[in-house]
Amino acid sequence: MEKIKTGIIGMGFIGVSHIETLCRIGFAETYAVADINYELAKKKADGYGIEKCYANIDDLINDPEIKVIHNCTPTHMHKEINEKIINSGKHVFSEKPLARNSEESAHMVELLKQHPDTVAGINFCYRMNPLIQDAKNRIASDEIGKPYLVHGNYLQDWLLFETDYNWRIDPEYTGTSRCVGDIGSHWLDLAQTMLGSRITQVCADTVIALPKRKKPTTQVETFTVNTNVEYEEKVITTEDYAAVLLKFANGASGVFNCSEISAGRKNFINIEVDGSLASFQWQQEQSDRMWKGNRNSNNEEIIRNSNLLTPEARKYSFLAAGHPEGWNDAFKNNLTAFYTFIRDGRKLGRDKADFATFEDGHYIMKLTEAIIQSSREKRWITIE
Ligand SMILES: NC(=O)c1ccc[n+]([C@@H]2O[C@H](COP(=O)([O-])OP(=O)(O)OC[C@H]3O[C@@H](n4cnc5c(N)ncnc54)[C@H](O)[C@@H]3O)[C@@H](O)[C@H]2O)c1
Repeated sequence: MEKIKTGIIGMGFIGVSHIETLCRIGFAETYAVADINYELAKKKADGYGIEKCYANIDDLINDPEIKVIHNCTPTHMHKEINEKIINSGKHVFSEKPLARNSEESAHMVELLKQHPDTVAGINFCYRMNPLIQDAKNRIASDEIGKPYLVHGNYLQDWLLFETDYNWRIDPEYTGTSRCVGDIGSHWLDLAQTMLGSRITQVCADTVIALPKRKKPTTQVETFTVNTNVEYEEKVITTEDYAAVLLKFANGASGVFNCSEISAGRKNFINIEVDGSLASFQWQQEQSDRMWKGNRNSNNEEIIRNSNLLTPEARKYSFLAAGHPEGWNDAFKNNLTAFYTFIRDGRKLGRDKADFATFEDGHYIMKLTEAIIQSSREKRWITIE
């Protein structure tokens, strides 16, 4: 069987993970990469033995060999590049958040309606951890009873100091929101996935803890530490932190906070669903384990074991129990789900997808905007 040929645009922090992850999907391969920084892309392409490297993204998009394109550029380029890909008739796998605002994401969703054969996915990868898929199925089959509460957080520390700077800080690149759009969006996707229910109302408080930052006058790669660079002072308008109350369509209530300024927290995601019979709790940094809280019996620590997962979750777990599966594996599951959907000729709108679609990404953009609006107007916002 011929492998599905893929092109990846954007060779920064996450672009390389896309190459690595695709290597693990046996029936797909990275055929070409592109970046405005051609030198960077060429170095990475050569390192992985990738056949083609383009300086111009249109050349990659128009390459007739390529069937699927991944968009790993900063958020301000998502709409333009995703729409070029959709119009080219190729399948698109976009990084999150889908866009800078819901106007941009709505436009993509509308465009997709004219391309019903296009498969469009988005990289909300945490939902594809096997234990999250397992918990989703167990919650759906009433194992923890009626879900009452969902609570947790997503905390990082990489923007703690005033000298920490990245394109994400600038609203022109990041859009309406920084912390919620960048990391809170993952938590929102997890909560909605586990509950199988959408968040319909939010009430939020967002905080800019560092109202001024020192922006390096030269470009600094994501998650790298700056040394010996010159700075210019910038006034900050995007949030460092958000605290959000939530109401779900199924009647559950929730609360979460997200921060990019919590010292010591690297990629701390915590989520707990409390039902009328039991609770499930999961932490990303110990992602091979799930805690089950019981009222009338001992609590349980579930260590992922492929043989004991619900049947639908088993296809997302590969290693024997005790051999931890983590972030890379959840990402691989996301791409496996996306590429299997394409290979099997399935269609969005007709067939159910486990990966997040552009519709899901658009809804999270609406949630993100509602959170920012709620904090500004100091009131609950209902998502239309
Ligand atoms: N799913 C996840 O867990 C996850 C993790 C990290 C980042 N992301 C997302 O991935 C995207 C990229 O983030 P990053 O951290 O890799 O950023 P980055 O700054 O490290 O890399 C972005 C790359 O895109 C290139 N680029 C910029 N404009 C371009 C253009 N017009 N054409 C071609 N290339 C262009 C840059 O030169 C750079 O190499 C963001 O949307 C981010 O939210 C997702």
